[in-house]
Amino acid sequence: MDTGTPIALEDVSYSFGKGALEKQILFDVGTRIEGGEIVILTGPSGSGKTTLLTLIGALRSAQKGSVKVLGQELLKASEKALIKVRRQIGYIFQSHNLLDSLTIHQNVQMALQLGGVRGAEAGKRIADVLQRVGLAEHEHKFPGELSGGQKQRAGIARALVNRPQIVLADEPTASLDKQSGRDVVDLIQDLAREDGSAVILVTHDNRILDVADRILHLEDGRMKSLSEVVSEGTSRMLNLLEKHDPHSANYLATFSFALARVAYADSKVSDSERDEMRRILHEVAKLEPAEVEFIMELSMMQKRARAGMDNRIANPALDKDRAEHFLSSLYAIAQADGVTSSEEIVEIEAIAAEFGLASSSNSDPG
Ligand SMILES: Nc1ncnc2c1ncn2[C@@H]1O[C@H](COP(=O)(O)OP(=O)(O)OP(=O)(O)O)[C@@H](O)[C@H]1O
Ligand SMILES: [Mg+2]
Repeated sequence: MDTGTPIALEDVSYSFGKGALEKQILFDVGTRIEGGEIVILTGPSGSGKTTLLTLIGALRSAQKGSVKVLGQELLKASEKALIKVRRQIGYIFQSHNLLDSLTIHQNVQMALQLGGVRGAEAGKRIADVLQRVGLAEHEHKFPGELSGGQKQRAGIARALVNRPQIVLADEPTASLDKQSGRDVVDLIQDLAREDGSAVILVTHDNRILDVADRILHLEDGRMKSLSEVVSEGTSRMLNLLEKHDPHSANYLATFSFALARVAYADSKVSDSERDEMRRILHEVAKLEPAEVEFIMELSMMQKRARAGMDNRIANPALDKDRAEHFLSSLYAIAQADGVTSSEEIVEIEAIAAEFGLASSSNSDPG
């Protein structure tokens, strides 16, 4: 099973078209993704995310650089080698790609047959995977009889039934409502953790950034580090906040980052924590919903990048009122989902210490 690093990219470039029409899409992209790691790939529309994913998935031929997948170099690889790699990857697309004329059971079964599993073992695996995605009762239905979220889960069952070492998902939540999107992502995460697979998840959906072990960002075909993205985003955010309140921009930025740190303390950000963050940021700064979303996304990223970057914003001094509001807001986030975990308390105390605040006076939930 152990083939070392499942995905290793070096200086990957890619162009569409020939001659005068040639257009380079990817520029010297490099990264390594380990087994059990969940990586989210973000970036603006047209930045090359799907192109990169299809290169890794051996769905198109590499042109330049090194694309090593499950120990196989895909650059100049034979069609046979590409097919072999393809079979070991689970693909999840935005649209579920189920065959409408087959039942859910048969759709999953077909994937298993391609993976070479038949008979009793196949029956057991199909039942097991449908159970895991919560579709046991819908096994004999046709895709047309299921909801969007159920179809997407069936697509996941099909992608994962072979226990692939690599899972590539291109906007798996794009066509789903909030709750189904969350469920689908949690499911991918659980299954990946259990099977030790390497997962790349392309998404525009900032609500699911928290599942990632790492976030990669593509812009105009170039991989950017998260701290670069955060630096640029922080400048934009300060501009935006200055328009609302020139005197408090710095404070608001620090404040929202601190809220995100608490929401993130136990590694999962719940909807209620998000709602609470939205409410507080709107109340404090009268920000538009879109602005709040932008700040939340950036805060999440800032939290992720924190280890590797110098603090661009100096902690502002807080007067008494502000200090009280600051701390009580942190506790409000921690309590938003009904339980204040010890990780959240630890994070609040760390933030309080950084700002020279006393946190204990406020720690009583009542
Ligand atoms: N088959 C193709 N032929 C020519 N150009 C293509 C082809 N596929 C994609 N492109 C171009 O390559 C660029 C990157 O496309 P890609 O689909 O990788 O972007 P993306 O980051 O996945 O965008 P989105 O978020 O909208 O899905 C775009 O400019 C696109 O127009
Ligand atoms: Mg795409």
